[in-house]
Amino acid sequence: MEGSWFHRKRFPLYLVLSLLLQGRGVTFTINCSGFGRHGADPTALNSVFERRAFRPVTNVSVPTRVNISFTMSAILDVDEQLHLLLSFLWLEMVWDNPFISWNPEECEGITKMSMAAKNLWLPDIFIIEFMDVDKTPKDLTAYVSNEGRIRYKKPMKVASICDLDIFYFPFDAQNCTLTFSSFLYTVDNMLLGMEKEVWEITDTSRDILQAHGEWELLGINKATAKMSVGANLYDQITFYVAIRRRPSLYVINLLVPSGFLLAIDALSFYLPVESGNRVPFKITLLLGYNVFLLMMNDLLPTSGTPLISVYFALCLSLMVLSLLETVFITHLLHLATTQPPPLPRWLHSLLLSCTSPGRCCPTAPQKGNEGLGLTPTHLPGAKEPEVSAGQKPGPVEAEPTGGSEQTRAQWEHGAQRQQSVELWVQFSHVMDTLLFRLYLLFMASSNLTVISLWNT
Ligand SMILES: *[C@@H]1O[C@H](CO)[C@@H](O)[C@H](O)[C@H]1NC(C)=O
Ligand SMILES: *[C@@H]1O[C@H](CO)[C@@H](O)[C@H](O)[C@H]1NC(C)=O
Ligand SMILES: *[C@@H]1O[C@H](CO)[C@@H](O)[C@H](O)[C@H]1NC(C)=O
Ligand SMILES: *[C@@H]1O[C@H](CO)[C@@H](O)[C@H](O)[C@H]1NC(C)=O
Repeated sequence: MEGSWFHRKRFPLYLVLSLLLQGRGVTFTINCSGFGRHGADPTALNSVFERRAFRPVTNVSVPTRVNISFTMSAILDVDEQLHLLLSFLWLEMVWDNPFISWNPEECEGITKMSMAAKNLWLPDIFIIEFMDVDKTPKDLTAYVSNEGRIRYKKPMKVASICDLDIFYFPFDAQNCTLTFSSFLYTVDNMLLGMEKEVWEITDTSRDILQAHGEWELLGINKATAKMSVGANLYDQITFYVAIRRRPSLYVINLLVPSGFLLAIDALSFYLPVESGNRVPFKITLLLGYNVFLLMMNDLLPTSGTPLISVYFALCLSLMVLSLLETVFITHLLHLATTQPPPLPRWLHSLLLSCTSPGRCCPTAPQKGNEGLGLTPTHLPGAKEPEVSAGQKPGPVEAEPTGGSEQTRAQWEHGAQRQQSVELWVQFSHVMDTLLFRLYLLFMASSNLTVISLWNT
């Protein structure tokens, strides 16, 4: 009888009383007298530690607000092949635990205490782009203030997936996202906020990052959009981390040597074809360029086709083309001095008009003075035997004084042949100069295109 009375009358009373007290938060004051002299008393905090399995709220329908902030302390690597950004973060989380509070006046002025984080409930904030297991050290501590505000920092080595665009390598900038969200709690249970302003995060990160590394932090932007997965809505904060590569290493190791080799290739057109040195020189240069590409291959991104690879391929093809051109001109000269085929009339008149002074037709500087007066004896030593064979008119030249009709015809034939040789040699030089100019034009336009693409 008495028991039923108790259940009918006392129990609801007790429930109402405890709910009222909970609402005022009085029940959860920690007795901290003596903490200043004997250190913290674990029994005084037991009520807090025992609740660590549950989200610390007095009303389960009220979401926990977690404010986050981070400092990016290092950009360790950007993996172009796996599309990963490897960075190091210090993540800071701040939330309130309503079961912790004490009066600092009773506790010798203590306003905050540190305690092992494993005794506290921790929010399960993770980074959505994180593609690795979290290697955060386990035994971290958190600061707890007398109002129950918990401040927890943890270091994180983050390998986050990032859609990298390496087309502009080494002048590329990347825009990677770091999305912080709760693993479990939906918006009904957890809300995220910012502990620091974005510009503060950017400034501290930039100060720390400035000192070292290949990557420079351009800026951090923020977006807060809720994410819905099925019927659940999760709160999340997205940070856009914009980084830019410092290109000096690549400019010095890739672009400068390549530029020098290309410049030497262009200048080697000034080696006279007759000397026979141009072809070996260009072959050596081509070989050198290939060795350079082989050695510098490690510096290039391993996936995708950056513009710089296209540029190197272009340089290589320019060198091959210039070698082919030299081979062609050498062949033409050889043909001219051994068995010159009859020159077409139009070409003949064109060449004659070109050699007359004041014309704007291309003529090589070293050949301009010689004009038609060039004799095959100026040609390379290797070709000397053939040249003298084609030079039959030479000795005959003395004979016209003899007056014989046959020798005269021979002499005329020889003179004609000589002129044909000279015209062919002239033609080769004009071709050489023309092709050289075309080469220069192509080189300049392709280089300008690549540079303007890099500048955008
Ligand atoms: C706090 O605990 C001390 C003993 O550790 C006790 O003397 C004191 O009365 C307690 N204070 C309150 C408000 O319960
Ligand atoms: C708990 O919170 C919800 C939503 O804020 C509110 O409607 C409800 O009255 C609260 N319950 C108590 C017991 O305070
Ligand atoms: C989180 O930030 C908001 C606004 O910036 C502030 O009102 C709130 O008290 C903060 N909460 C915590 C737990 O720091
Ligand atoms: C990065 O991308 C996001 C979304 O595409 C954009 O809002 C943000 O402005 C970009 N940041 C930079 C620095 O370009």
